Amino acid sequence: MKLLDGKWVSSVILEEIALEVSELKNKYNKIPHLAAILVGNDGASETYVNSKMRTCEKVGMKSSLIRLEAEVSEKILLQEVDKLNQNPDLDGFIVQLPLPKHIDEQKVIRAILPEKDVDGFHPDNIGKMVLNMPSFIPATPFGILQIIEKYNIETSGKHCVVIGRSHIVGLPMSILMARNTYPGNCTVTLTHSKTKNLKEVCQSADILIVAMGKPEFVTADMVKEGAVVIDVGTTRVPDISKKSGYAIKGDVKFDEVAPKCSYISPVPGGVGLMTVTSLIKNTLLAAKSKL
Ligand code: GUN
Repeated sequence: MKLLDGKWVSSVILEEIALEVSELKNKYNKIPHLAAILVGNDGASETYVNSKMRTCEKVGMKSSLIRLEAEVSEKILLQEVDKLNQNPDLDGFIVQLPLPKHIDEQKVIRAILPEKDVDGFHPDNIGKMVLNMPSFIPATPFGILQIIEKYNIETSGKHCVVIGRSHIVGLPMSILMARNTYPGNCTVTLTHSKTKNLKEVCQSADILIVAMGKPEFVTADMVKEGAVVIDVGTTRVPDISKKSGYAIKGDVKFDEVAPKCSYISPVPGGVGLMTVTSLIKNTLLAAKSKL
């Protein structure tokens, strides 16, 4: 069994990005700039956004954080989105999800200019991704592709089972693994809460990508010997032995599943770090496309 080390892949890619950022500065006097809108003060969202901002600084990019209170109206949020759309100094921005219930998430995503939508959530970018045209690929699926590539994992003709059909991870992941490029060319099964015989479907997976948000759901009896297992789960569970008061749990029962796998990604230290790195990579691409 080999561990898919997201920390290592992420550090290699961030070094490459830092080099390109310094070249952009020297050649074009251009510093890539990412902004994030954070609505409310959900602990997990705060952590993610802070990590995105910190990583920008680490590679020499500019970052801006716009904080809005949880009660902000949809209208004001859309005005903020428009300001960022119009800001010529900004290469890309994200609106951290989830948004409070009174705000229509899809409406906000549609308001972002596709060329600044470094999350790749706008229907134009999703459509381009489906058609295999150049576009921003959503950060978590993009991160998983880069891990598969770095470890030279064979994907052509394999059965890839994705658990979870979220617009952020599962759905785009299933499309990407079916495209006729590497990584891809898989026979894909996208499973979800209404799937029958989930255990049997998972047992036939050569590559199992789990993005359901249910801690330790996938057990050893669901996994084929030699499978590649990629765990996207990051649920906070109370843990008094940790300084923060919680531990991060994946969707896979790692200790019992790992011995059966050819490759497995751990939580933490797997996919999570790649999400941030991929967003930063999309921001660099956005900046370069304007030169
Ligand atoms: N919430 C969880 N993952 C993401 C992400 O990749 N982007 C945004 N904007 N919100 C998220």
